[in-house]
Amino acid sequence: MIADTQPKALVRVPSGIRGFDKILSGGFLRGGVYMILGKPGAGKTILGNQTCYNHVAAGGRALFLTLLSESHARMISYIGQMAFFDRSQIGSSLVYVSGYQALENEGLKGLLGMVRKCVMDHHATLLVIDGLVTAGALASSEVELKKFIHELQLTVELVGCTTLLLTGESNGGEAYPLRTMVDGLVQITFDPIGMGTARTLEVTKHRGSDFLMGRHLYQISDQGIGVHPRTESVLGRNPARPRPAEPLAFGIESLDPMLGGGLEEGSVTLELGAPGTGKTLLGLGFLAEGARRGQPGLYFGFSETPDELKRRADSVGLGLSSLVDKKAVELRWQPPLGLLADVLAEELLERIEARGVRRLFIDGIDGLVSSLVYPDRAGGYFTALGNELRSRGVTTLFSDETSSLFGPEVTVPVSGLNAALDNILFLRHVELRAQLHRLISVVKMRGGPSDSSLREFSITDRGIEVSSSFDSAEAIVTGIARSTSQAPPRKASASPRHKKPSRRRSKK
Ligand SMILES: Nc1ncnc2c1ncn2[C@@H]1O[C@H](COP(=O)(O)OP(=O)(O)OP(=O)(O)O)[C@@H](O)[C@H]1O
Ligand SMILES: [Mg+2]
Repeated sequence: MIADTQPKALVRVPSGIRGFDKILSGGFLRGGVYMILGKPGAGKTILGNQTCYNHVAAGGRALFLTLLSESHARMISYIGQMAFFDRSQIGSSLVYVSGYQALENEGLKGLLGMVRKCVMDHHATLLVIDGLVTAGALASSEVELKKFIHELQLTVELVGCTTLLLTGESNGGEAYPLRTMVDGLVQITFDPIGMGTARTLEVTKHRGSDFLMGRHLYQISDQGIGVHPRTESVLGRNPARPRPAEPLAFGIESLDPMLGGGLEEGSVTLELGAPGTGKTLLGLGFLAEGARRGQPGLYFGFSETPDELKRRADSVGLGLSSLVDKKAVELRWQPPLGLLADVLAEELLERIEARGVRRLFIDGIDGLVSSLVYPDRAGGYFTALGNELRSRGVTTLFSDETSSLFGPEVTVPVSGLNAALDNILFLRHVELRAQLHRLISVVKMRGGPSDSSLREFSITDRGIEVSSSFDSAEAIVTGIARSTSQAPPRKASASPRHKKPSRRRSKK
């Protein structure tokens, strides 16, 4: 007879690992049995311990049972290095028990009896069993192992003790029947990427709950495991654009009218140019102008340090140092080493939220691209990030380097980025009679007034100036001008303003 058919309210038991809980839509379900599957060294033992310490820190009671021959002292000696470790909990809210002897002497039946007793005696609300592979190896048959899991499920469900089974990847797939029995399945693994390694976590099953599908990057450090939900799975769901407001001007006479007054609020613009064309200064100028108009700015870059940026910008009259001192502009710099694009997106949004940022300049889209780890994510990542920034009313400039120094051809080097872009500012160098000239043109990707003529611009100690007509640019690009690259002068370069710059559109 079924005594109670009332649906029970689902209670979440968080892992306390922020990104992981987000993927799990809040955490595990109370009394459920979850399998954490991963190859040796993937971080199962760390994940299990970290969940235990977070659980007891939040007032729960945890039991960590190991079936491995690895001694607790040894395990604790390396877990003890991690930030979540708290020795004072051991022996009180958190107990470590070895099930190895029970398993070896009395088999799975003996182990089950022991687990039941320990869970009851300790009033455990979280149970972690490390080394389930050992139980599998010592089981006389698959049926016996299934029976063990089934009985364990009944016990922990009855007492509301959430259970994590940590187990190695079985090559023969013999864990398959167990995978169908458990309430949830989390796979953690690592892949070689170039000379490095990328660790990924994937929830493939979470009974009774929604979850963020697909693989997400995670890291192991002395902080323990940090899981970073894939940006494209969490951001940019709200396609709302801010209501059209006044465009955000560069404050550069002649350039702003080319853009119809400035950049549209919430738009995403790519500044494309060869090295040294002035991308960083133009971007910093955009932030400085915003700061003077009371719009907080954020610089997010990967190559130049804040001191270098301030020195360079001050030398061309942008007054950046004082704007940084007044906290009207924030400069964030990180060397592009071992970064994860999802962590960068989290940081970016955190700073935007904290300071009410209205203008954002990401100096070097390459820094983000290289931190994607898996390059085929670019389309999804940039679309999600672009949508998110747009819906928050942040106007964004990205800089990117082109290898071709000259020519009317505009190609967006990052495949998949096109979909996220509203405008392209194209900067280039041209040499005329041993003198270097700079040219700028605007390519609007989406509606709105635009003037795509070529203009000459210069960087002087008074700032950035753009010529009011295209005459000087035309003089430069007619026959007498030569590209700074060694390429022979192209035919098209004689009248680039008549030719619509072509764009390569990726079919993503
Ligand atoms: N402080 C740290 N910083 C970075 N990585 C670390 C740190 N401490 C441990 N690791 C990494 O954690 C991994 C070991 O984690 P853990 O012992 O949890 O793995 P496991 O999945 O339980 O492995 P096994 O299958 O052997 O039991 C190793 O790859 C190690 O390089
Ligand atoms: Mg382990």
